[in-house]
Amino acid sequence: MVSVGIVGTGSYMPEKVLTNIELEKMVDTSDEWIVARTGIKQRHIADSDTPVSELCYQAALRALEDAKISPEELDLVIIGTITPDYAFPATAGLVAERLGAKKAAAFDIEAACTGFLYGVTTATQFIATGMYKTVLVIGGETMSKILNWEDRGTCILFGDGAGAAVLQSVEDGYGFLGFELGADGLGGKLLSMPGGGSMYPATLETVEKKMHTVHMAGSEVFKFAVRIMGETALKALERAGLQKEDIDCLIPHQANMRIVDSAVKRLGIDPEKVVVNLDRYGNMSAASIPVALDEAAREGRFKYGDIVVMVGFGAGLTWGAAVLKWAKRGV
Ligand code: ACO
Repeated sequence: MVSVGIVGTGSYMPEKVLTNIELEKMVDTSDEWIVARTGIKQRHIADSDTPVSELCYQAALRALEDAKISPEELDLVIIGTITPDYAFPATAGLVAERLGAKKAAAFDIEAACTGFLYGVTTATQFIATGMYKTVLVIGGETMSKILNWEDRGTCILFGDGAGAAVLQSVEDGYGFLGFELGADGLGGKLLSMPGGGSMYPATLETVEKKMHTVHMAGSEVFKFAVRIMGETALKALERAGLQKEDIDCLIPHQANMRIVDSAVKRLGIDPEKVVVNLDRYGNMSAASIPVALDEAAREGRFKYGDIVVMVGFGAGLTWGAAVLKWAKRGV
């Protein structure tokens, strides 16, 4: 098996920013409450005529440029999203076509906020076994389009954006060293968009009942997240043969600052090593981790040979972590 790592990253957020102050005019909430309970100050929101494929395409262009790879070299495009352009066809195919990735296979992964981690884990297997050489993994969301903007318990949390990574073989002993993935369908009811699938196909009634929006039992998800984040990171580290003391940079899913803080406490790592951007973007679901990874890489938050741990959780319920020995020189 060859070693597999990330050789380029990119991200893209829509221009429009929605601040907490603006949200105060839309629902019964306050900037103080949102900041104290979540850490979020603002989020980016896509225009009504901008689909998620546009955000994914822009992030992909930046990742390909960073990796110095042309779209024709891509063997596979994977997109983690719960807000695809259509129920079908898959958004990955649309983005691959727009990029000009003529020989690439393409599919979407639906693991909510854990989508990017499910994606890089899957991509790594294809490259490690020799089936493919170059895989593009994107996490992209337009959460704003599936929110109930009258529900203050959910609409304040989420934002839109996309992050992308190009994966290839890297030098021996570098790149991905360990993964951990998990799922518990029993928790599916805690966080879902019930309408629009084969259980409740779209009707006037489902639209009136706002079944095509995010429904969430916030405090239940919160308790689950607090427990699972630390546990999952530790399991992935164990698979990599490493300890929590080895972490140089932690990239947690950006859902809520209190959830991030509890994971940091559990892992006992220096908060300086933790990447946080949820204050600017909110929870971008599958886009959250790759956007934070891209920003951290470009800011030089880690360097060649550093141990980077990405960890997240999401609807499903799903969870996952990946441990990387950064293989790219120059960042
Ligand atoms: N503004 C003001 N008050 C609010 C707001 C708001 N936006 N939202 C809820 N409240 C009120 C509630 O009505 C409640 O009032 P009450 O006590 O009079 O009934 C009070 O604040 C406390 O509500 P809780 O829900 O208990 O507040 P909590 O501290 O749990 O915070 C939150 C809510 C922020 C949603 C938290 O539970 C959380 O972050 N949960 C995790 C959510 C998450 O991470 N989801 C994403 C999963 S990832 C994916 O796959 C998409």
